[in-house]
Amino acid sequence: MSLFPETKNTEGPQGLIASSLRRLLGGPRTDRPPSSIPSFPPPSAQGSAEAGRRMPGRAPVDPAAVARKGPYAAEVIAVCAQKGGVGKTTTSVNLAAGLALLEGKKVLLIDMDPQGHCALALHSELPAETPSRPLSEVLTRKLGDIHDIAFDTKIPNLRLCPSDKDLAQAESILAGRIGKEFLLRKALERARSFAEVVVIDCPPNLGTLTLNALLAADWLLAPCDMSTLSVEGVGDIFDTVETVRDTLGHHLSVLGVVRTRHDAKNKKVNDAVEQTLEQWSRHLVTTRIPVNTALAQAQLAGTPIFSHDPDCRGAKAYAEVVRDVASRVWGAKPTA
Ligand SMILES: Nc1ncnc2c1ncn2[C@@H]1O[C@H](COP(=O)(O)OP(=O)(O)OP(=O)(O)O)[C@@H](O)[C@H]1O
Ligand SMILES: [Mg+2]
Repeated sequence: MSLFPETKNTEGPQGLIASSLRRLLGGPRTDRPPSSIPSFPPPSAQGSAEAGRRMPGRAPVDPAAVARKGPYAAEVIAVCAQKGGVGKTTTSVNLAAGLALLEGKKVLLIDMDPQGHCALALHSELPAETPSRPLSEVLTRKLGDIHDIAFDTKIPNLRLCPSDKDLAQAESILAGRIGKEFLLRKALERARSFAEVVVIDCPPNLGTLTLNALLAADWLLAPCDMSTLSVEGVGDIFDTVETVRDTLGHHLSVLGVVRTRHDAKNKKVNDAVEQTLEQWSRHLVTTRIPVNTALAQAQLAGTPIFSHDPDCRGAKAYAEVVRDVASRVWGAKPTA
């Protein structure tokens, strides 16, 4: 499949991911098939941290504190799919919480979706007071960086950088600004040194916010629910990875495709979806996330599934996904 067709896009609805990128970025033609994407190449630890820029007239900032860096170089995972409601937020929240609770990693969860669902899904785990400076200001006005506005949750090792509604205006505010796709990457430089892994929940579209997440990430994790519309987009996601790499020189690896909302009763649809996914079998995360109302109830309760109902099928499935992701990102390690 050509990445830069000169005729109109004949791909499925999620082909908009790749075609929007092509429109946004432009770039050379390439005909590399999806199978040429390396599954799990070593991610590159990126750049040194730099002090956040400050606008004149703001509260004075201790330059030493701004420049201070932590001891880590976080792996950054973008959880992305253009289709809405496929389980991006459920996967982001439980992956982040699982990496913190089950793997003992220092985790930062960033919500790039103006809907703000990560904070809602973790509302019982938030501290009474949170920093007032919103993510939209950090990105659009370059006021500080992510580390300044992220805060500890009540879950050990899990920090959250919530989104805010003004983020929805970021697309228009940033339109035409040179380098607008790299704002998150820049704002994340110092925060990466304070976490072992960063998980980014993306909005259900391919706009500037999602592009910022992809360009800040080392890895892409793509939830795909068991529907024909969702599976249509998997090839386009792989195209997107190649386009970002070939056009902007940013190496983004496919961490995996997580099959979500799997209902064994829907045999006919499941068979059709699995058949289409077969061509990307080496990218598939083995565990399927079942349809499990406890996952929705955990979001209502504002806590990860591991705290809400650790024995339910959803918790067990997400625990396996967490283990799988950890072993892919950091290499196999003996179970304790
Ligand atoms: N495996 C599951 N079983 C049952 N319900 C689920 C499952 N996964 C997600 N849900 C529910 O489906 C809804 C959509 O899930 P979620 O918010 O994670 O999707 P999303 O891709 O982030 O949506 P959006 O595109 O709007 O950001 C939520 O109400 C969630 O609780
Ligand atoms: Mg969401």
